[in-house]
Amino acid sequence: MADPILKVTDVCAGYGGVPVLHGISLEVCEGELVAIVGANGAGKTTTMRTIAGLMRPTRGSVEFYEEDVTGLPAHVMVKKGLTYVPEGRRLFQKLSVRENLELGAFTERNRDVIEERLARVYDLFPILKERSDQKAETMSGGEQQMLAIARGLMSAPKLILLDELSLGLQPSLVERVLRAVTEIRRFNVTVLMVEQRVLEALEIADRGYVIQSGRVVMSGPSGQLLNSEEVKRAYLGI
Ligand SMILES: Nc1ncnc2c1ncn2[C@@H]1O[C@H](COP(=O)(O)OP(=O)(O)OP(=O)(O)O)[C@@H](O)[C@H]1O
Ligand SMILES: [Mg+2]
Repeated sequence: MADPILKVTDVCAGYGGVPVLHGISLEVCEGELVAIVGANGAGKTTTMRTIAGLMRPTRGSVEFYEEDVTGLPAHVMVKKGLTYVPEGRRLFQKLSVRENLELGAFTERNRDVIEERLARVYDLFPILKERSDQKAETMSGGEQQMLAIARGLMSAPKLILLDELSLGLQPSLVERVLRAVTEIRRFNVTVLMVEQRVLEALEIADRGYVIQSGRVVMSGPSGQLLNSEEVKRAYLGI
């Protein structure tokens, strides 16, 4: 395996003194698509928030491109090339598609660069170009999720963290949105995603980590996880 660009070591975190993560370690290499899977409440979002700088770990470290970034705030992480697309999309509903996208590029001042990035995300998701003047709230669930991904890409991240893209989407849209994830690799972006949809996520990921009660209980190449009896029994219902 190549050198990891993200290295999470023994991270513990919680809310108001209540521990949720009990020593999470994981790595992501350049160009990989890695999935964190697990049941409701396992600590997936907490892991993402801790990596993205929205929460401070009580123990452990986060390294990004060999730099210790533990506890740095989220806007600094975005500048360093790590962008988090939160669970539940969090779009600016009253703003247009285009305005939402431009806000994603908040770290960039150069108009030409912003236009270039817009052109690339429109190329990736043509529907966003068609609807660029439409308010975000008028887009369908699947379209809003694509907009959320595209907004994340507007910061030109090296690593994008995608949290539960499939949440609240009907099955046909889940497939479409996850296909979109495989397409963003064209941007030379490394992806760390979180999914409750274990099967669908592992089908598109290179590697996976299974999180249970704030701990990594299994990890490995996706194919290996999909074939493991434990994963089949616990998450795939077979
Ligand atoms: N803001 C908060 N305050 C207190 N407890 C929280 C908060 N957010 C999450 N928790 C608790 O932390 C634990 C892990 O939550 P987390 O959101 O990380 O899980 P998750 O794996 O992302 O779950 P889901 O699949 O439902 O999104 C849960 O027990 C949850 O109740
Ligand atoms: Mg979550």
